Amino acid sequence: MTEKDFIPKTYNNFIESGSFTWSSPSNIALVKYWGKKENQISENPSISFTLNDCKTTTKLSFSKRENTDSFSFEVFLDEEKKDDFKPKIETFFKRVEVYLPFLKDYHFKIETSNTFPHSSGIASSASGMSALASCLMSLERSLSEVEITDKYFTQKASFLARLGSGSACRSLEGDLVVWGKHKEIDGSSDLFGTKYPYEVHTNFKNYQDTILLVDKGEKQVSSTVGHNLMHGHPFANERFKQAHQNISSLMKILKLGDLDAFIKIVESEALTLHAMMMTSMPYFILMKPNTLEIINKIWAYREKTDSKICFTLDAGANVHVLYPENECEQVCEFIKNELVAYCQNGHYISDRIGFGAKLL
Ligand code: DP6
Repeated sequence: MTEKDFIPKTYNNFIESGSFTWSSPSNIALVKYWGKKENQISENPSISFTLNDCKTTTKLSFSKRENTDSFSFEVFLDEEKKDDFKPKIETFFKRVEVYLPFLKDYHFKIETSNTFPHSSGIASSASGMSALASCLMSLERSLSEVEITDKYFTQKASFLARLGSGSACRSLEGDLVVWGKHKEIDGSSDLFGTKYPYEVHTNFKNYQDTILLVDKGEKQVSSTVGHNLMHGHPFANERFKQAHQNISSLMKILKLGDLDAFIKIVESEALTLHAMMMTSMPYFILMKPNTLEIINKIWAYREKTDSKICFTLDAGANVHVLYPENECEQVCEFIKNELVAYCQNGHYISDRIGFGAKLL
C-alpha cells in the first residue's frame, strides 16, 4: 500500500445528513515511537498493547453545506463547547483532506467524551484521533458506491489517525499492534498500524495495566516538541536501530511466553525513552520523584517475590504497571498497599488489554 491507495476515486452516493458514533481505546507502547520524519512517519517501528477501558467515545454528526474554502466544525467535550480543541482538528483536517475529499462539503459536530478524566495526564490523542478517524471512515463508506472492505476500512482509519497523532494509528485493533516497517513482520507498514500477525503465548492473554496517576498536570514539553528534538540528537541512530532489535527479540518472547525477558525489554524501552529526553538539547525531564519511588518499589517487590510485574512509561510522569492476569490478586494488593501513596490524590486506573475501536 502507498499513500495514493488511500485517495478515493469518486463518491456516488448522496447523503444529506446523519451521524456515526465510535469508541476507541488508548494504547501503551512496549517498544516506543520517539522521533518522526515528515508526514507523521515514525523513525522506527513500535509495538503496543491496545487498552480496554481507557477510551474515547466520539459522535460525528454531519450536514451537507455549500462547498466553501474552509472547514466547518464545532467540538464538544462532555457536552461543553471546546474551541481550544479546534486548532488540532483543523490541522488534522488539512492533513487528511486529500484522502477525504468530502470534508469541506459538510458541517461537522464532533461530540466527544473520555472514560478517563481529561486532566489525568493520560493523553487522549490516541483514543480521540482513532475514534474521529473511524467516524470519518464510516461516512466515507456510506458515500462510496464501491464496497469498502473491513480490511481497507481499518487500514485507512489507522492511516488517517496517524496523521492526527502518530500513536493513534495503533488503537484501531488489538490486542497487539505494530506500526512501522519491520523486516521480520509481514504486512508491517510505516503508513498504518497492523495487528501483530504471529502466535502469542497465553501468558500474555488479558495482560493487565494499572495506570498510576503520578501527575495529572499538563506536561511541560509536548510529545510533538520531544519528537522533534530527536532530529540531530547524538544518540538517535543507535536508538532507532535498537528499536528494530528490540522488536525482533520481543517476537521470540511473545511466542515463548518468556516473562523475564519481556520485563527486560519493556523496562529498558521506558527508560531509554526518558533517557532520550534527558539527552536532548534542550534537555528535559518528565519523570517526577514519585515516578522513581514507584519504579524502585516495583523492583524491590520483584526481588522479594516471584512476581512478573514490570513498569512502562509514556511521555509523562505516570507509571503503567504491567502484569499477567494470574497475578491480579497479589499485585492489586501490592499496588493498594505500597504504590497508591505515590499517586496524586491516590488516583489510579485499572485497565487491561483490549481489542480496538468499535462502532456503537
Ligand atoms: C511516548 O503519538 O503523542 O507515547 O505523533 O506528535 O501526536 P504525535 O506524538 P504521540 O507520541 C507518543 C509517543 C509515546 C510512545 C509511543 O506511544 O510509542
